[in-house]
Amino acid sequence: MTDNTHNRRILIFDTTLRDGEQAPGCSMNPQEKLDVARRLEKLGVDVMEAGFPASSPGDLESVKTIAGIIKDCAVAGLCRCVEKDIDAGREALVNAASPRIHVFLATSPIHMQYKLKMNPEQVVERAVSAVKYARKFCSDVEFSAEDASRSDPDFVCRVFGAAIEAGASTLNIPDTVGYAMPDEFGRLVQYIREHTPGGEKVKFSVHVHNDLGLAVANSLAAVQNGADQIECTINGIGERAGNASLEEIVMALRVRKNYLRVDTRLDTTQIYGTSRLVTQVTGVKVQPNKAIVGDNAFAHEAGIHQHGVLANPSTYEIMTPESVGISKNQMVLGKHSGRHAFEDRLKALGFTVDAQTLEEVFAEFKNLADKKKVVSDRDIEALVMGAAASVPETWKLDQWAVNTSSALGASGAIRLRHKDGQIHKLVSMGDGPIDSIFKAINKIIGKEPNLELYEIGAVTGGSSSQGEAMVKIAMHDRRWNGRGVSTDVVESSIKAYIAAINAMEWDLARDSAVQ
Ligand code: KIV
Ligand code: ZN
Repeated sequence: MTDNTHNRRILIFDTTLRDGEQAPGCSMNPQEKLDVARRLEKLGVDVMEAGFPASSPGDLESVKTIAGIIKDCAVAGLCRCVEKDIDAGREALVNAASPRIHVFLATSPIHMQYKLKMNPEQVVERAVSAVKYARKFCSDVEFSAEDASRSDPDFVCRVFGAAIEAGASTLNIPDTVGYAMPDEFGRLVQYIREHTPGGEKVKFSVHVHNDLGLAVANSLAAVQNGADQIECTINGIGERAGNASLEEIVMALRVRKNYLRVDTRLDTTQIYGTSRLVTQVTGVKVQPNKAIVGDNAFAHEAGIHQHGVLANPSTYEIMTPESVGISKNQMVLGKHSGRHAFEDRLKALGFTVDAQTLEEVFAEFKNLADKKKVVSDRDIEALVMGAAASVPETWKLDQWAVNTSSALGASGAIRLRHKDGQIHKLVSMGDGPIDSIFKAINKIIGKEPNLELYEIGAVTGGSSSQGEAMVKIAMHDRRWNGRGVSTDVVESSIKAYIAAINAMEWDLARDSAVQ
């Protein structure tokens, strides 16, 4: 066994709520962002980038809320190197226990010439003035040289040296377009660390995109070459092919810590729950064979493998499912399970719910247990996620009915309860049961959002499985997600549609309140 006492600490900077959330299809509403932020805090990330405050008043508000609640890690806000962005960052982070302002400016010839239309001298000057301005309000300032992997390394060292002198304490080396090769990126990190004036006083960070599928490999190469901080996202969500995946990096650092001689402070048993939450709120599923958190990551199909794992799990498992928070040997929950067992399982799955939600979910669990012999963790997770509405409910499902036949087409009837207590009912014809009922809902609410995505799947296997529906609606270039779960697939679809409508109504109401 190797002695681990002197392992270097690697800082984990999570950007799920900023780089992850800005990717198409990954948007989250403020409540969902807060839920994710709380899970990230529990997971033990060192820094969470909560958003880009100057990008919209909504983002500023959401960073501000998160910054006021999260205490166990630093909360960062991203800003361009302009005063109005830094002002927005300052306002958003005013209540943070450990605020960090993260400013960025591109340093590659292609970005400087075509995007910024600035020469290298102007870039150095702008970086310095932005860091100095940010330091007036915040002692923790990170500077990123966007597109660093396609920049002249000596120029990056020069900009970094100037940023350090201006007061930056973390210098970030992004592979913005996922272009670098691992050995090349490792050498770049080492070169920049060794040639940046004042580099010995600061932390070096990397931020890698996955365009060539190398984000994790490049991040690990950076660690081997002295990087102190890794920027990454849950499930690897992010622009284009995504960012480096937090769970893969953290487990690689843990499983191979004797080789890499580094450690993180993360509680890896929180990984799976956090990954599931991000999947649920974004509606973006991970592929079954995804390392660490995919459905098959710990499944052994081949007989020879099963035999080996039964004889001794380490024959084919380099880490246990339990180490990432997947518990395998659980008591089966069914209709005879009591509230205690149910509450214990909720805790084990990482959910903290208030007393009222617990009542509701337990009642739904009992209903489900009557229909299904065994209620799985996935079922419970689906019930909890469905119970806690993430926005106030403008509309609530009261009753529904559909009629469908090959000869006559489909009709859907719906009764919705408005938040003012009034009942609205309507019948509509449509192209199939879902179309007819969605049309009826649209007529009641008086809006016609575009249905951009509609997906239905089984929560678990078997014909008694709950159906889980996911919808994405769009109007005026804005998008809202909704999900719904029921043992009836039509009902799960209706619930998902109404959840998305409620998210839209809430956003539109907040917009008109601001005007
Ligand atoms: O990819 C990138 O370069 C970024 C920076 C803002 C750090 O996201
Ligand atoms: Zn990025």
